[in-house]
Amino acid sequence: MFIVKKKIKENNYYYLQQSKRVNGKVTSKTIAYLGKTKKDAEKKAKEFSTNQKDYKSETKKELMEEKIVLNKKELTIEELTNFCKRKGFVYPSGDLYGGIAGFWDYGPVGTELKNNIKNEWWKFHVQENEDIVGIDGSIITNPKVWEASGHVGNFVDIAVVCKKCGTKSKVDKHELENAKCEKCNGDFESKGEFNPMFTTSVGPIKENSTNAYLRPETAQLIFTNFKLVQENARLKLPFGIAQIGKSFRNEISPRNFIFRCREFEQMEIEYFIDPSKKEEFPKKEKLISTKIKVYSEKMQENETDPQEMTIKEALNKKIIQLHWHAHWLSTELHWFFSLGANPKNFRIRQHTGDEKSHYATDTWDIEYKFPFGWKELQGIADRGTFDLSEHEKHSKKDLKIIDNESNKKILPMVVVEPSLGVERAFIVFMLEAYQENEKGNTILKLNPKLSPTKVAILPLVKKEESLTKIAKEVYGNLKKEWNVTYDESGSVGRRYARNDEIGTPFCITIDNESEKRKDVTIRNRDDGTQKRIKIKTLKETLRKLISGEVLFGSL
Ligand code: GAP
Repeated sequence: MFIVKKKIKENNYYYLQQSKRVNGKVTSKTIAYLGKTKKDAEKKAKEFSTNQKDYKSETKKELMEEKIVLNKKELTIEELTNFCKRKGFVYPSGDLYGGIAGFWDYGPVGTELKNNIKNEWWKFHVQENEDIVGIDGSIITNPKVWEASGHVGNFVDIAVVCKKCGTKSKVDKHELENAKCEKCNGDFESKGEFNPMFTTSVGPIKENSTNAYLRPETAQLIFTNFKLVQENARLKLPFGIAQIGKSFRNEISPRNFIFRCREFEQMEIEYFIDPSKKEEFPKKEKLISTKIKVYSEKMQENETDPQEMTIKEALNKKIIQLHWHAHWLSTELHWFFSLGANPKNFRIRQHTGDEKSHYATDTWDIEYKFPFGWKELQGIADRGTFDLSEHEKHSKKDLKIIDNESNKKILPMVVVEPSLGVERAFIVFMLEAYQENEKGNTILKLNPKLSPTKVAILPLVKKEESLTKIAKEVYGNLKKEWNVTYDESGSVGRRYARNDEIGTPFCITIDNESEKRKDVTIRNRDDGTQKRIKIKTLKETLRKLISGEVLFGSL
């Protein structure tokens, strides 16, 4: 490379020229304008050649990048907790002061992941279904709601302490005699009944204030608003009302990271049908064909292992009684599987007699193989007419609706209530995604729909104005649609690794060819492969990649 001076209309202009021998002939071409003075030109030429060196070494590194092979890594819950804190997913609440048991704060990427889980749930359950609408009830409501729902009288556990190791726990009042400590199998000593509802007072002046509760489930706001919602949305049976929101329980021993918290979020649906049609099957019944471990009440009583079968087989063998239950178990499992979860880590378990909540006649839990054992991920209860009839009794208001088919006034029943904790879904997606490459680096293989950052823009050369301009334009354009980051610090390898750890599915590099070719390079997180894509089709390509409509390999 060399500097040439050109005189145009009495003015000097300096250019950087490069010569190449092609087929024995030397040709030279201008590769950059360097300014009007020799001093400027020398300075810019130096900068240019440094940038070129940087670019070449980055490109070389990038080309040398081996194809990534991922290995699933099983994490303990402590390892997951530490990883989440280190990378900005979840922090202990009030960490500066030592935290507070059962309360957690979400960091920058954790907040995005949590919002994405909730958005995907809402899209799948509410927006894509014509028979389900959503509401957003308040956390504190009239305390009479909780008397009617049975939470004041029946939502009671026994606080216990292990006589051997001193672990504090809670057990259902029916289970006290047979319960053993999970840690050491020791016997428990009862510390008496307790109601896990948090109480507060409403009103600033103590004498005039009313005692109230922080809601322990979101469901009751659906029941109390049932009639209004049905009328407003002109709903015809069967239909569902969904809600996502905070719930609070003063758990005696919050533990296992965000698995059991005192403040958490629930995603719940109350699905109402005409009680006389309980035995019928849903018109849109579609059962997944995946085999799943099924653990019925009988199998537990007989102390046999769970059996692997499809939901349809469980229904045909009358292990699952109702088509409605089978349909919703299938729907909920499908949601997890469609977002990348492995069916082998899921099973369905029926509640045994004593275990059911005060409102439920039959409950199936979706359980997950957490690092601390098979535990409840989601409850799917048949609540019958318990709640609406209790609210009718206590409020003395008629909650019956006219069924448009029979033209009769009926009190609908909740044939299923799928109720899922956001925090438990969060743990599941993190555990399922956590992988390592051969070098032991973390790659969080989240479904792109859930990834906190969808795209990272990484210009290969920091000081090159034309590249930065393209990179900033691409960034500005993509940012309007997704959470996108711009990062020009450190080697490109380090920038890829930073994004792999938080699950960014696609990194975009802009190099010296980009200006001429009007394209960028997309790098795929899961195997490290790269493809050049024209800038004008970039957004559409990313849209298809993120939604899963197109796979990276087929670009
Ligand atoms: N409305 C029904 C209901 O609340 P539940 O089985 O008590 O039923 C439903 O709770 C779901 O809420 C659970 O399956 C779990 O995912 C989540 N959940 C319950 N208690 C929780 C806690 N203390 N911390 C985190 N999630 C919790």
